[in-house]
Amino acid sequence: MSDFETIKARDKKYFMNTYSPVDIAFDRGDGCYLTDTEGKTYLDFLAGIAVNSLGYNHPVFTEALTAQAHKVAVVSNYFYSEPRGLMAQVLMRGTHLNKAFFCNSGAEANECAIKLARKYFYARGEHRYKIVSALHSFHGRTLATVTATGQEQYNKPFSPLPAGIGEYVPYNDIAALEKALSDPEVAAFLIEPIQCEGGIIPATKEYLEAARKLTEANGQLLIFDEVQTGAARTGKFWAFEHYGIKPDIVTSAKGIGGGFPVAACMATDEVAEAWKPGDHGTTFGANPLACAVGYAVCTKLREPGFMEHVAVCGKRLMDGLKTIKSPYIKDIRGLGLVVGMEMESEAIANKIYMTMLDRGFILNVAGHKVMRFVPPLIITEEQIDTMIAALKEVVEDL
Ligand SMILES: Cc1ncc(COP(=O)(O)O)c(C=O)c1O
Repeated sequence: MSDFETIKARDKKYFMNTYSPVDIAFDRGDGCYLTDTEGKTYLDFLAGIAVNSLGYNHPVFTEALTAQAHKVAVVSNYFYSEPRGLMAQVLMRGTHLNKAFFCNSGAEANECAIKLARKYFYARGEHRYKIVSALHSFHGRTLATVTATGQEQYNKPFSPLPAGIGEYVPYNDIAALEKALSDPEVAAFLIEPIQCEGGIIPATKEYLEAARKLTEANGQLLIFDEVQTGAARTGKFWAFEHYGIKPDIVTSAKGIGGGFPVAACMATDEVAEAWKPGDHGTTFGANPLACAVGYAVCTKLREPGFMEHVAVCGKRLMDGLKTIKSPYIKDIRGLGLVVGMEMESEAIANKIYMTMLDRGFILNVAGHKVMRFVPPLIITEEQIDTMIAALKEVVEDL
């Protein structure tokens, strides 16, 4: 293996400059720990940004991956294969959702949801095409999803943006939503139950209930973006289950593959029936390798007791954060194992991030000044206590 400086120099020369990484290259992981090329080990509270739900090197993940790799990785969607049906079944088990489409990233899942919403009304002969979304939301980097993303920093340089997307409402503001949805050309409201990239901002129950009621009354579709909140992260398999709300379309990615790229757009039968063969597709979507791994991972996440563990650990994390006394902490919020601690400024948040890395803990900063905690879902209460003890010293020493 090359040393860090060689890895970095090669990266600088050949890798496009769209990220700004810190000076660490990870080599391998085990459980909730990552080890860098210099042999230093870190306790991980980021999990590839809410991706590695079973941590690293988990036997459920590695065995499903290798077993399927020995059979077949990719077949064309011109043919059937068993894993995609199994993956769809386990994702939607016990919910009102009936049909899934698979793709490779959260952005693509949302792109699919937007197309499906438009196709639904097109098929019914209704002139509805607008997609309303929230300020400070994040829905991905394709042109449609970056337009739905209510943060100018992500979409401004890429004009002209697709029409009919990019009408933003302030999050958790029912009156503003009612007004925006009164437009008869609105097809759907796209919403994250917790704005994660925006800084771990949970929607209120009343807001989500109003969103369901209003869209229903207006004959519009409600789309939940559960790319980051899905796959047991909040202590239920889907965040919408906390609110007793039934979105027409739900998207997910990240944790459903436990580290293997797979994403899903799920819908009720009534909505999914709008698709006809040829309307949508992607070469790698629903490939047996991704679906076999996703199926194994999600089956594990749905085992009795697993989501209770997430809820218990989420509470431990939240309670632990609340023991930290600092005038720089402005708020602590979240659900299950998606938790944010809002700091006074971006500079302070970045300082905590770097100091914690130095001490061997991976967190990150979302929404400019919110410390984000999205660990592997197999994290233990002891590991949470260890991180909290270090964080307490770092924050109380600021
Ligand atoms: C809520 C939400 N939607 C969509 C995306 C985009 O997912 P991806 O990066 O897999 O395209 C993200 C990524 O952070 C997200 O958090």
